[in-house]
Amino acid sequence: MKTWLRELPKVELHLHIEGSLEPELMFALAARNNVSLPYATVDEVRAAYDFSDLQSFLDLYYQGMRVLRTEQDFHDLAMAYFERAQAEGVVHVELSFDPQAHLSRGVELAAPFEGLRRAMRDAERRWGMTTALIMSFLRDRDALDAMDVLEKAAPYYELIDAVGLDSAEMGNPPAKFEAVFERAKALGIPRVAHAGEEGPAAYISEALDVLDICRVDHGVACLQDAALVERLRASQIPLTVCPLSNVRLKVVEQMTDHPLPQIIEQGLKVTLNSDDPAYFGGGVLDNYLACLEAFDWDQAMFKQLAGNAIDVAFMPESRRSELHKRLAAC
Ligand code: ADE
Ligand code: ZN
Repeated sequence: MKTWLRELPKVELHLHIEGSLEPELMFALAARNNVSLPYATVDEVRAAYDFSDLQSFLDLYYQGMRVLRTEQDFHDLAMAYFERAQAEGVVHVELSFDPQAHLSRGVELAAPFEGLRRAMRDAERRWGMTTALIMSFLRDRDALDAMDVLEKAAPYYELIDAVGLDSAEMGNPPAKFEAVFERAKALGIPRVAHAGEEGPAAYISEALDVLDICRVDHGVACLQDAALVERLRASQIPLTVCPLSNVRLKVVEQMTDHPLPQIIEQGLKVTLNSDDPAYFGGGVLDNYLACLEAFDWDQAMFKQLAGNAIDVAFMPESRRSELHKRLAAC
């Protein structure tokens, strides 16, 4: 079963590329860019990854990404992730990045956009891996700051497959970003948002109502609200669930407590993703394997979840049908 899961053509829809920064690369980039780190060794970095909640993770996540300064850094970061992902059977990656977290350190938009663009091209050339790019806004900053970034990104609109919303959820409801998401919609850019990770089910409803999103990132709080569950079931708006992330950020105590089985039982369109693989104990395959261990799902269930991700990915229809065929042959 484990070999079969590795070979299953998997599509990843929820990955923060800055959260794929492994400690070894963090040290290499720190040396390259003369950035000092509060750690002496790789083991010390890993030992620090003991989170009590989302904010305690975000503090280290923003600290770690200070080593990313140049176009080459973003290229190397993404290539290192794509290489690991393709080795675990991932055939398509939708990566998000946080431009505001770089702009506020004096790293201009060209560095992430050009570096990621080149890595996305290289991955397709080298492994036949396809990719899509999501530009995320930081919800714990002013909405005007997000609007400013959206306008600044104009030279790169053709590169952006969607905009997203991430960072500290509690106290930063979706409605705060109504105008930004309205502007993205007017520009013809699809929209996704984190909702119902640490926040309540009401944030999921609000993101659907106010931001007009086509996917919910996480969404695991949905079971708190029966009307919302019915809405998600009827609309088949997908949830990009990240089970290992939810365990590491104490959204749930352990994998066996995760609401995934109930959410699937309710007929919602669920996908499995890694979120921040360098911080949460593994990539997409590890998330599939953790579900196998906790829930003992059969091949039909994993094929359904992998197929859901193919259904809703930002990819050309020809690629979608090719991946559905490869999945069916498994
Ligand atoms: N940014 C990176 N990972 C995140 C997560 N799990 N939730 C919110 N914002 C994030
Ligand atoms: Zn996330």
